Amino acid sequence: MKDKHRTIIEPFKIKTVEPLALLTRRQREPILKAAGYNLFLVAAKHVTFDFLTDSGTTAMSAAQWGAMLVADESYAGSRSFERFERAVRELTGYGYVIPTHQGRAAERILFSHLIRPGSKVPSNNHFDTTRANIEQLGGEAVDLVVAEGRDPTLDRPFKGNIDLSQLEEFCAAHRDEIPCGMLTITNNTGGGQPVSMENLRGAAEIYHRHGIPFILDACRFAENSFFIKLREPGFAEESVRHIARATFDAADGCLMSSKKDGLVNIGGFIALRESRWVDHLRNQLILTEGFPTYGGMAARDLEAIAVGLEEVLDEHYLDYRLAVSRYMAKGLNRAGIPTVQPAGGHAVYIDAKALLPHIPPEQYPGQALVCELYLAEGIRSCEIGSVMFGRETGEGFRPAAMELVRLAFPRRVYTQSHFDYILEGMESLARRKSRLHGLRMTHRPPFLPHFTARFEPVEAPAHRVDEPHDVDGPAATKRRSAARARRKDLSQEK
Ligand code: F0G
Repeated sequence: MKDKHRTIIEPFKIKTVEPLALLTRRQREPILKAAGYNLFLVAAKHVTFDFLTDSGTTAMSAAQWGAMLVADESYAGSRSFERFERAVRELTGYGYVIPTHQGRAAERILFSHLIRPGSKVPSNNHFDTTRANIEQLGGEAVDLVVAEGRDPTLDRPFKGNIDLSQLEEFCAAHRDEIPCGMLTITNNTGGGQPVSMENLRGAAEIYHRHGIPFILDACRFAENSFFIKLREPGFAEESVRHIARATFDAADGCLMSSKKDGLVNIGGFIALRESRWVDHLRNQLILTEGFPTYGGMAARDLEAIAVGLEEVLDEHYLDYRLAVSRYMAKGLNRAGIPTVQPAGGHAVYIDAKALLPHIPPEQYPGQALVCELYLAEGIRSCEIGSVMFGRETGEGFRPAAMELVRLAFPRRVYTQSHFDYILEGMESLARRKSRLHGLRMTHRPPFLPHFTARFEPVEAPAHRVDEPHDVDGPAATKRRSAARARRKDLSQEK
């Protein structure tokens, strides 16, 4: 039996290691400047803790590497495809499995068959690439997340849910324009928040009553299932495998980026209960991805996914996995750094607007924090705020609704002492927050500005010095050990 009072440990031992890049702040400063204060333009070898994404950054297991060695790389009908197909069928219960090289390829192939100009696709929140693939075909991606999902301060168990009464109204009004309805589990855009089984089934009932096929964006299905086990009445005694199956049972098919809960570095699939779209999708697949028994992957990738889909259902793994973001959120909050509540499954979202109220949105408080997290701790994070969504309009700058910074945690990569080390530095960062200053965008690309925009610092106000600028020296070391002592009991809390 698990002892609730013990530290939740990494449920694995480590066989292959990679050195961490341990740079000082002074070494990072010119690197950040040369990258135009954009972390997408910093080389990974200069990053200590890479929290840019949880996608494709998983550490694979010995069993996965072993399976890759015995993969059958035949062009058609390989043994590895049979193994992959069996694993997906056993997990989902869907009979038709179409491999793709990653999630967005699955999106493009499915939507190119379903979407016409004027089509509408409701979901809780569409991920960026899902939305882009729908809109690129002239369709409309409609977000109907519950109202509490839009409030970063509310602590509720299922903030990823879709608003069922809005969904009912929407389906009744637009039934003929809706080729499929969706739900994203967990809701990445909404902060990695889970969707309850009750909500999943409620959405399924509405979609089906209106004759609308229901497709899951299932890339974090295992994390969502474990949240259901932890939080939804009636599921505590169910196995995660059973909850995952019940999730898929509610829908008619799924799109999957295996780079998340497939526990691999590349891969994806479409899986469907019925055959009616399958011939068309396979023809599309052959045009751009590959033959239907490999679909843009090597057979060794198919093997790694087959094993990954098993491993991800291990409840010791999932317990540890969700503990990471919960632990980081609590530690950040304790250090005075506000985060979206509650912590998501794969990521923690820092509220930079609340942390840095002295930096106006047009000087990108989120990006200012991204830069400081890099300089101080070697962390690479991602701004989800006015860099990504702000717009220059005729009437001036229109900021994003929220200024968030996402720390997304790779699976099975970093250990508790890495997270403790980071948290030790956070109190000091929070204490000198008024010294952080904003940025000016010096190069704005026409699309997706966050990837390639360049910035320069706005001059810091001279009177704002409330702490010595010492982050690598002896005073910083002293602060770290004081923080370590204060945090002792936090590790009990996980
Ligand atoms: N759907 C969701 C919910 C996602 O989070 C992603 C990717 C995709 C689809 C697309 O899958 O990358 O395999 O093509 N999310 C990554 C992230 C990129 O960082 O959140 P992909």
